[in-house]
Amino acid sequence: MTGAANVLEDELAQIIASHIELDGPLLPILHAVQGRFGAIGEAHVRAIASAMNLSRAEVYGVVSFYHDFADVPDPRPIVQLCRAEACKARGVEALVSAAEAAAGERVRLETVYCLGLCSVGPNARVGAKLHARLDEQRLAALIEAA
Ligand code: FES
Repeated sequence: MTGAANVLEDELAQIIASHIELDGPLLPILHAVQGRFGAIGEAHVRAIASAMNLSRAEVYGVVSFYHDFADVPDPRPIVQLCRAEACKARGVEALVSAAEAAAGERVRLETVYCLGLCSVGPNARVGAKLHARLDEQRLAALIEAA
């Protein structure tokens, strides 16, 4: 095994160790692994399953259930568009077609259900930044700049 592989293995072990004592540690571990490695691969699933005394199928079942988790890294920028009730009431559905057209295959456009800014929707998140009161033009410009 190479030195780089050892470092990654050590990082994975540290992520697992730092979350294993939580109540319900699986989702926090998976989020941390996804955040660090960009995906949850077979080696990650195997290590997590072993540490939690779960089967690989149980861990993989959770990974495949939530669309936040991927088994291979997706390098595209991500734009999350809120399509929950308050943003629907404020017109987000009328923006979806233009958003999809602006995203094309270059940007990963994800639907999420509430970004916590319900009174000022429609809302989207690009990276860590939230954007409120979007109209078709502003949303398309955000996506194109992502
Ligand atoms: S419903 Fe869209 S931010 Fe809450």
